[in-house]
Amino acid sequence: MTLNTKTLVLAAMVMAVPMIANAQSGEATYKQVCASCHNAGVLNAPKVGDKAKWAPLIAEGQVVLTAHGYVGVRGMPAKGGSPNLSVEGFADSLVYMVNNSGGKWTSPNPTTVAAINREIEARKAGLNKK
Ligand code: HEC
Repeated sequence: MTLNTKTLVLAAMVMAVPMIANAQSGEATYKQVCASCHNAGVLNAPKVGDKAKWAPLIAEGQVVLTAHGYVGVRGMPAKGGSPNLSVEGFADSLVYMVNNSGGKWTSPNPTTVAAINREIEARKAGLNKK
């Protein structure tokens, strides 16, 4: 193996690690934080796998649905009730739920995360007006 090939292989490994970590952390966060309600449909939470219930939610789009879930809506506690959960961590757990409920989302890129953050601020401002 030449030095160049080694360098390329190393670079590919370094790039692959965060992608794997992200994919795992969405599922791990789901199991840790969201599953207690969304597995069985506690308090009428949309059950993972219930495509009919998820279809209209998925149709709201990743930015809006992620932001509204993060802020909290009716029986859905803000951040899934986990105060230290980041927007990215919440978004990835939602990607896991959506992809197991008939949707096909990907972990949000920085542009999408920025849009989610703007929607969170807008949602909070709207809630504060009441
Ligand atoms: C304590 C129970 C509970 C936990 C924990 C929980 N949820 Fe929920 N979630 C609910 C309930 C109940 C609803 C339905 C809210 C409604 O429509 O009245 C809901 C709805 C949602 C919705 C739809 C929001 C909308 O706009 O209608 C999303 C998205 C969501 N949850 C994501 C998550 C994610 C992601 C997690 C984990 C990080 C999580 N939830 C953890 C109870 C929970």
